[in-house]
Amino acid sequence: MNIKPIVGALLSATVLGFSAPAFADTELKVYISSQHQPQVWRKVLDQFEAANPGTKVTIETGGNTSEAQAQYLNTIMSAKDSSLDVLILDVIRPAQFAAAGWTSPFAGKDMSVYLPAYAEANTVDGKVVALPAFADSMFLYYRKDLLEKHGVQPPKTWDELKAAVKKINGAENNPDLQGLSFQGKAIEGAVCTFLLPYWSQGKNLVDNGKLTFDKDAAVKSLKLWKSFVDEGVSKKNIAEVATDDTRKEFQAGNVVFAVNWSYAWAQSQSKDSAVAGKVGVTRLPAVTGGESATCLGGWEWGVSAYSKNQDAAKKLVEYLSSKDASKYMAANGSLLPTYASLYQDADVLKAAPWFADAKQVVETAKPRPVTPRYNEVSEVIRTTVNAVLAGVTTPEDGAAQIEARLRRILR
Ligand code: GLC
Repeated sequence: MNIKPIVGALLSATVLGFSAPAFADTELKVYISSQHQPQVWRKVLDQFEAANPGTKVTIETGGNTSEAQAQYLNTIMSAKDSSLDVLILDVIRPAQFAAAGWTSPFAGKDMSVYLPAYAEANTVDGKVVALPAFADSMFLYYRKDLLEKHGVQPPKTWDELKAAVKKINGAENNPDLQGLSFQGKAIEGAVCTFLLPYWSQGKNLVDNGKLTFDKDAAVKSLKLWKSFVDEGVSKKNIAEVATDDTRKEFQAGNVVFAVNWSYAWAQSQSKDSAVAGKVGVTRLPAVTGGESATCLGGWEWGVSAYSKNQDAAKKLVEYLSSKDASKYMAANGSLLPTYASLYQDADVLKAAPWFADAKQVVETAKPRPVTPRYNEVSEVIRTTVNAVLAGVTTPEDGAAQIEARLRRILR
């Protein structure tokens, strides 16, 4: 091998005042949730590696639901384990991680480039504790082809949705076709399941850290979800359904309507989807007489306080939360952008045309209660929703239990 050109290049680099690349021979490990397109993030990491010779980034995935991931990370971080440098965190967690001292703050970061909800979620006591990975909200996915075939408009209320399912399923006469898939398993997503019709009645759960529980609204929310099962709109085992189960059954062509987050779009349009080209996405229905409401989701990049590569990890997080990365993930993984202008970007809209209307939905989405004891709040709500859907608790008892238990937690 002729080494002269290499020596020449090194020499000229030295003459120009460059030394070796800033993070030569650095290895970074990034934790990504397995549900949120790790294979697409890999491409973004490849671009980072290409721009930063000497830095190698590997991915660790784990847990297919938010609370399973949190449990895993809690174990790692409680042990002060330094093996993970960068962590993806559900939007409900940066405050908790910062309070535990598990993330390193970013100094001097201008958060005004991001959608305000994410600037806020990542700023704790005036410190930027993580940077946005992607935005999120819950939407109503529907089978455009079936609605058109049966002359049905996308429903604006849950009652209209029930009527639409009865009409479509009555005519299709296909026992494998479920009317509505939603999340009834005792996962983090079931907290949002409960809150959607609750909020839609104009009620709040917590105001200024104080519980503002409306029992009638809670009973009505739980009754609504249970009625989908009892009336055969949703399948009997909905209490076992997690977010990615909804994504899979919809993608297999077995569901008319589905409540889901933005990531499900990319796979629904992939070549192994039974419904590519047949899917519409719109705002969630409201309760009759109420307003449509959705849950604010999203994920954030934090640098582990125990990482031995703080500077390199921060540089990587800056890259992962950049506009270019947000655009790439929106266009290739249907993860909603954290930059307002990308909701009008031609390449993004080519891949996900419905993103044109999604910014307004994200901007009016409601955050889950912000409290240091969020884990307990979540547990109470999601296990009760699950018990009601499984038929072991009535909606009235479920609402009473949520109220009593939340009163103790949020005293
Ligand atoms: C989505 C949201 C996240 C939410 C989770 C619940 O991943 O982005 O915020 O907690 O779903 O299942």
